[in-house]
Amino acid sequence: MDIAVPDLPVDPLDVLRKRRSAKWQTYPPDVLPLTVAEMDFALAAPVSEALREAVERSDTGYAMATPGLGRALAGFAASRWNWDLDPASVTAVIDVGVGVVELLRLLARPGHAVVISPPVYPPFFDWVAEAGARLVEVPLAHDDAGWRLDLAALETAFTAHPAAYVLCNPHNPVGRVHTAGELAALVRLARTYQVTIVSDEIHGPLVLPGATFTPLLTVPGAAEAAVSVLSASKAWNLAGLKCAAVVTAAPRMAALAGRLPADTRWRVGHLGVIAAVAAFTAGEPWLDRLLATLGHRRARLAELLRERLPMVAWDPPEATFLAWLDCTALGPGDQARDLFLKHGHVALEPGPRFGAAGSGYARLNFATSSEILDQATAQIAAAVG
Ligand SMILES: Cc1ncc(COP(=O)(O)O)c(C=O)c1O
Repeated sequence: MDIAVPDLPVDPLDVLRKRRSAKWQTYPPDVLPLTVAEMDFALAAPVSEALREAVERSDTGYAMATPGLGRALAGFAASRWNWDLDPASVTAVIDVGVGVVELLRLLARPGHAVVISPPVYPPFFDWVAEAGARLVEVPLAHDDAGWRLDLAALETAFTAHPAAYVLCNPHNPVGRVHTAGELAALVRLARTYQVTIVSDEIHGPLVLPGATFTPLLTVPGAAEAAVSVLSASKAWNLAGLKCAAVVTAAPRMAALAGRLPADTRWRVGHLGVIAAVAAFTAGEPWLDRLLATLGHRRARLAELLRERLPMVAWDPPEATFLAWLDCTALGPGDQARDLFLKHGHVALEPGPRFGAAGSGYARLNFATSSEILDQATAQIAAAVG
């Protein structure tokens, strides 16, 4: 089916370079940035129309997320994932990071342990510290089958009764979509040892062809043990507009969300709510096209790596537009990433930022055109020599 639908277009490089976002402004103009998780595709039409309309009406005041955001997310969750969530259980927050930090502040007293599973999105480390908690790392397991939660090691960590576990579902940077079975086992552990799971599901809509996303709160027994944070910001490229959603499914967790700081609602981006509502209600056809496009980019990247960089290993991601590249053959730490930047003029995210397990790795963002991927891998291959 996706053969008939053209891939999403990407502007030429000179137009992309005019963007004022972090991805395009962090490096000098001779560097090709495949770094921070922003996409190069044009916005989904329903989203840009909603934003244009708001600006034309000077509708740029404070956000009023209730009831629109909850209804829009509930409609999307039902259609996409068969998840029957109560719109009234949705609390808007300015972004996923703030949502997780504020939840951790409520869950953990100063110095209490919070568990994460590196390699993981670098701010997870900072969020735990920002909430005043103590970080406990239980790395993912990795073998020939790829990356996955180390449930045995998590059980060992949970026996010390940490205040919370921050789950990355799907998992950035490795792109793993945790299975329903794995999540059910995690929920059993959380309930046994009374550990609250905070599930970061920002990449939930970005599950690529071949994999199936399980929202944690659809797992039997999860409602009493978990709270989820979702957003339209990754899948529709809205990170700068600032809107995310804390979702609960049982009274104890709803009470927790009810204790979020009262001013939280005034901090949400009004344009973020408008864009998120448009994305969740009318953005599914575009999302389907995005996922088909990303599936093609993932396949193209596999070819380019095989042909040009055979020393680089990877497990192609099941979700996200991020490739976690094992460049350890080129040296530990940041050596490969620095070589790519200095001699290849291509910027990737340095692996060690994702935890000690990221030594020798780099993360590549493939939400771009085939031409840019082609150019980037050619420049990296030339740098490697
Ligand atoms: C797993 C994960 N969580 C959160 C974020 C950031 O979300 P926000 O900008 O809403 O804080 C990202 C951004 O890439 C991410 O990958």
